Amino acid sequence: MDEKELSEIYARMRPKNICICRAVSEKTLVDLIHSGVHDLEELRFRSDASMKCGSCYPQVRTIFNREMKIIQSESDKQN
Ligand code: FES
Repeated sequence: MDEKELSEIYARMRPKNICICRAVSEKTLVDLIHSGVHDLEELRFRSDASMKCGSCYPQVRTIFNREMKIIQSESDKQN
């Protein structure tokens, strides 16, 4: 394996930043949601995502809605 291939593999392993301005990854957002941050504005405040230019806000909201559906679904299964 050459250096270029290794570089591509490492690039894929790095968490993708959803918010470029504040360097916030999807993993950070998901981890916060699953640790109890169940309000979109609180998620933005706590992670700092979408607090500068705001162009990532739709993605942050999509991730929030997706993860909240998962949490709701898991909660429904338990009840
Ligand atoms: S990309 Fe998230 S605030 Fe600019």
